[in-house]
Amino acid sequence: MTDDRLPTAILGASGYIGQHFARLLADHPQFAPPLLVGTGRSHGQRLGDVWVLAEPPPASLEPVRLVASTPAGLVRAGVRVAFSALPSGTAGPLESELVRRGVSVFSNASDHRLDPQVPLLVPEVNADHLAIARTARAGRGLLVTNPNCSTTGLVLALAPLVGLLRPRVVHVTTFQSLSGAGYPGVPSLAIADNVVPYIPAEEEKMARESARILGRRRGTTVAEAPFPVLASCARVATREGHLESVVVEATRSPTHAKITEAWARFDPLAGLGLPTAPHPPVELHGGSDRPQPLRDRWAGSPARARGMAAVVGRVRWEFPYLRFFVLSHNAVRGGAGGSVLNAEYALARGAIPSRRS
Ligand SMILES: NC(=O)c1ccc[n+]([C@@H]2O[C@H](COP(=O)([O-])OP(=O)(O)OC[C@H]3O[C@@H](n4cnc5c(N)ncnc54)[C@H](OP(=O)(O)O)[C@@H]3O)[C@@H](O)[C@H]2O)c1
Repeated sequence: MTDDRLPTAILGASGYIGQHFARLLADHPQFAPPLLVGTGRSHGQRLGDVWVLAEPPPASLEPVRLVASTPAGLVRAGVRVAFSALPSGTAGPLESELVRRGVSVFSNASDHRLDPQVPLLVPEVNADHLAIARTARAGRGLLVTNPNCSTTGLVLALAPLVGLLRPRVVHVTTFQSLSGAGYPGVPSLAIADNVVPYIPAEEEKMARESARILGRRRGTTVAEAPFPVLASCARVATREGHLESVVVEATRSPTHAKITEAWARFDPLAGLGLPTAPHPPVELHGGSDRPQPLRDRWAGSPARARGMAAVVGRVRWEFPYLRFFVLSHNAVRGGAGGSVLNAEYALARGAIPSRRS
């Protein structure tokens, strides 16, 4: 039996997002088990040796050794799709080089998120933005980014409401988990018994990335959404899952029932058969004290989409203010899972170029 799955690599496989990629790609139906790429620091170590997630490593990849490689080396190894979990700054030039060499890259890093010809994609929200991708020149790969982890939950929750409420302004206050800072992340003595009301550059990222994702595509450009997102971001001592308190100041006044119905009906990827797509992507929780990171971070079905759904709760509506909480898994929906879903969507649309001949 031939294996027609696309050959893949994880860049930054020893890191927090890299390990979530390994979990999601170990037995993926469309992407072959990945090459695990690290730096000289992790070269030669087994994935199991560097594993830090609470879930066990996938049995098939646990004994696989990390390798240090170059873009040329990845091309020689036959890699078609690279999932990037590289630190920002390092990611940009490496990703560009891979794309020039014909490898398609799905990235978590911020370097290319606001490039005019690079889609910043959350497929349930702005699938049509894939069309701005610059792949015109023969031999180039596709480059697609996913947003900052706190932006993903916010735009998923807002997308079904934008037309209904026509927001004047959106206020969001975040309670972001420790893993959002990667591994080893925040020093324990800085965060134990504490909340830190500052995450470098996070508020600006939320504002700019939300405006772009919720913006309208016109041809190959995107006109930003017309309302501002005013963010206040805090780091709290949870392990995974970003909780956000959202206040939408609306200019329209639909009924409460219309608002909850808009969330309940929202499932734009239904019927596409994308393995990692959660159905529904936004789960409405009626509990008076939900969503909570500990209890709701793994929301999402089917099983492959665990951690991919955003959970909305504590909905309060008194025109012009809609208030609610939203929770999403920063490292899955806001990280590795977001990239894998983007790749599945691009593949379904025939947007991943075939190998350079
Ligand atoms: N954590 C989240 O929730 C989250 C969510 C969305 C997006 N992101 C983004 O995803 C990326 C990865 O974040 P993370 O949280 O996984 O960070 P992390 O735990 O610090 O991992 C970083 C990884 O990058 C590798 N690396 C460092 N320098 C490198 C270089 N010069 N060349 C190649 N690889 C290098 C490291 O490999 P070695 O161990 O081999 O040195 C390590 O595996 C970042 O851009 C981050 O902003 C993170």
